[in-house]
Amino acid sequence: MDKLKRTKIVDLLGSGEFGKTVNVKGWVRTKRGSKNVAFIALNDGSTINNVQIVVDLGIINENEIQNIYTGAALSVTGELVESQGSGQKLEVNAKQIEILGTADPDEYPLQPKRHTLEFLREKAHLRFRTSTFSAISRIRHAMIFAVHKFFNDKGFLNIHTPIITGSDAEGAGEMFKVTTLDIENPPKTEDGKINYKEDFFGKETNLTVSGQLEAELAALALSEVYTFGPTFRAENSNTTRHLAEFWMIEPEMAFYDINDDMDLAEEMLKYLIDYALKNCADDLGFLGKRLQDEEKNKKAEERSPMELMEKLRFVLEDDFARITYTEAIDILRNSKPNKKKRFQFVIEDWGSDLQSEHERYLVEKHFKKPVIVTGYPKKIKSFYMKLNDDDKTVRAMDVLFPQIGEIIGGSQREESHDKLLKRMREMNVPEEEMWWYLETRKFGTVPHSGFGLGFERLIQFVTGMGNIRDVIPFPRTPQNAEF
Ligand code: 4AD
Ligand code: MG
Repeated sequence: MDKLKRTKIVDLLGSGEFGKTVNVKGWVRTKRGSKNVAFIALNDGSTINNVQIVVDLGIINENEIQNIYTGAALSVTGELVESQGSGQKLEVNAKQIEILGTADPDEYPLQPKRHTLEFLREKAHLRFRTSTFSAISRIRHAMIFAVHKFFNDKGFLNIHTPIITGSDAEGAGEMFKVTTLDIENPPKTEDGKINYKEDFFGKETNLTVSGQLEAELAALALSEVYTFGPTFRAENSNTTRHLAEFWMIEPEMAFYDINDDMDLAEEMLKYLIDYALKNCADDLGFLGKRLQDEEKNKKAEERSPMELMEKLRFVLEDDFARITYTEAIDILRNSKPNKKKRFQFVIEDWGSDLQSEHERYLVEKHFKKPVIVTGYPKKIKSFYMKLNDDDKTVRAMDVLFPQIGEIIGGSQREESHDKLLKRMREMNVPEEEMWWYLETRKFGTVPHSGFGLGFERLIQFVTGMGNIRDVIPFPRTPQNAEF
């Protein structure tokens, strides 16, 4: 009996082979019972659903059953039977139970009750074992797979761009240094500066903030490419939407203008959300219920008007609104929260950057659907964006989502060598270090566009989770790099 092959719980629950002897392995979620029989809910992470194990206490010695608590790991062999109780269609009548690992209930931090998300963040090494985090993990995986499928089906090539880089793609200077120099006692140049010539790469290097610049090089030969990699930002933003280490999907396409770029962004977001609805129904159902419980504790005006799946479907139904930055500013200036100074940052002049409160107003209150804003002032956007004829705005596009604000940032790229060089000089981007980027505009330059989708922000939207720290297994944020 003991060499029986393990069946995953997801497969077991989908089968109806009653009478068959099966083996399941997993972790105990709950144990309850009476004098003669114990009921164990076992989960192996393959599904949100547990399998019920029925243990006739005659088959197991008393000491052993004492050791089966929430968190213990078991291997159970038994007969698959139709369930007598309500709530599940089948269960396993245990014939043999092996305790693979115990979990002392006085020490094991996860008890069969609802823990706060803050508490679970401190137990990130164990939180995969909760229903919430196992659901998020499966959805995250499904979305990774769907991203690759979407692009593969369209003939895009996945490009690995470097993680260690010498250039600051966004020009914001918020980078983590990479060095092997002795920081207590670094080598110095004659004028007293750190001598990076003696560093590992012979120059200053950082962790990348974006794979875009290298993706552009590839697109200008392979036409349609995308990156999906980790990116790092040393911005001191302690918000529910910022991580210091996050994953970004960056498609880059030759021969696409800004409208083609927006079309692709909208198509991709809809594809991914539709994929989640079709493939993650159980997990979304669970997270939706979880959110509803959470909503009950909120004030009426703070409650979300839509249930999770309803909200996801809603995004699929309509075209996204497309407006210019100038139109957005007009709407915001005339909005109630602006007039009553209820925005933290009151919009006064054309030229100010949109904060997430403004983005969410446009999406949630004004248009009541996702919004794409184009034509931002050049001075609040990056050097590589194509300048419009007005010499004031650039062909940028940000996709704004309910609950999230900016989920995608992108643009048509400046393909003119001279205009690009001028913008680099105006914005103090070191042109000597970017000689290779400039050369692509000298040799066979073409109009091209791309964008970056923040993967964790997408997962936040799909799962409804309020804090970005809860949609990545091990969040990196200011003052926090545990695990
Ligand atoms: O708007 P961003 O900074 O754009 C770029 O990096 C471009 N190079 C993309 C491109 O055109 N290829 O970032 C893109 C997206 C944002 O819209 C947001 O969703 C996400 O990345 N993002 C973050 N997500 C989590 N934590 C942070 N600190 C983020 N910063 C940006
Ligand atoms: Mg942006």
